Order: sequence, then structure tokens, then C-alpha cells
Amino acid sequence: MKIGITICCLLALTSLTTGCYYDNEEYLYGTCDTSNVTFSKDIKPIIDGNCINCHSGGVIDLTNYNGVKAKVLDSTLYKSMSYSYSGANSSKNMPAAGKLDDCSINKLKAWIDEGAINN
Ligand code: HEC
Repeated sequence: MKIGITICCLLALTSLTTGCYYDNEEYLYGTCDTSNVTFSKDIKPIIDGNCINCHSGGVIDLTNYNGVKAKVLDSTLYKSMSYSYSGANSSKNMPAAGKLDDCSINKLKAWIDEGAINN
């Protein structure tokens, strides 16, 4: 009887964890839509949520399209958000607290590849 309960629990646990794993994969690779990415719908919310508490004025102002575009043009926006800096420049990887999820980075890349327009 005891063994039966143990096996039952193990089975339940296994299906739970594999279930979560699968959902995660699906989230990462299945539902990240990088077509029709727009500044207002996709990019601005990512930047508002992760960057403007530090960059809302001064040298780097990411609160508006022109400020974000300036950092696309000098190529530091993608470089910092894709965590491409290394060595002494590692502190320029943004946000410092940790790289954003792949879907956000892929959307950023798609938007830049399409010309980083104010859409
Ligand atoms: C906690 C505050 C903070 C947050 C949040 C933050 N930054 Fe920064 N950011 C900094 C600081 C400080 C520097 C200067 C780092 C250095 O020069 O070593 C910087 C530098 C930069 C630079 C210049 C990099 C270069 O090559 O000179 C860019 C671009 C940038 N941040 C973009 C962003 C973006 C985009 C986000 C959101 C994804 C973000 N930051 C979030 C504080 C922050």
C-alpha cells in the first residue's frame, strides 16, 4: 500500500514537472511573435518597465521615441540589452539586474531590423 502511494506521488510529480517544462518551452519558442513588432505596442512597454526608472533624463533619456532611437543609432541599445559587453565594459549590460527574457530581446532585434520606426 505504501509503495503504491509512493509510485502514485512520483507519477503525479513527474507529470507536474514535465508539464511545467513543456509550458516553458512553448512560451519561449512557440508563442514569441516577432512579426509586426511596433514601438508603441511592444518596445515602449519593455523599456518603460525595465529602464526608465534610471534613464528618464540626462545623457540617456529612454522615456520617448527620439531618446530610444538615438541609442539605436549609436548601437548601444541592442548591445546593452543583448548583454554583448564584456570585460571592463560589463557594467554597460542592461538592465544590470539581469538580461531580459529572450522574447523581449528578439522583439527588440526585429524592431531594429525593420528600421526602428515610430510605429
Ligand atoms: C538601476 C539603474 C539602471 C537601469 C534599470 C537601467 N540602466 Fe542603463 N545604465 C545605467 C548606468 C549606471 C549606466 C552607465 C553604466 C556604465 O557606463 O558602466 C547605464 C548605461 C546605459 C547605456 C549606455 C551603454 C554604453 O554603451 O555606454 C544604455 C544604452 C543603457 N544604459 C540602456 C538601458 C536600457 C535599454 C535599460 C533597460 C533594458 C537600462 N539601461 C536599464 C543604469 C541603469
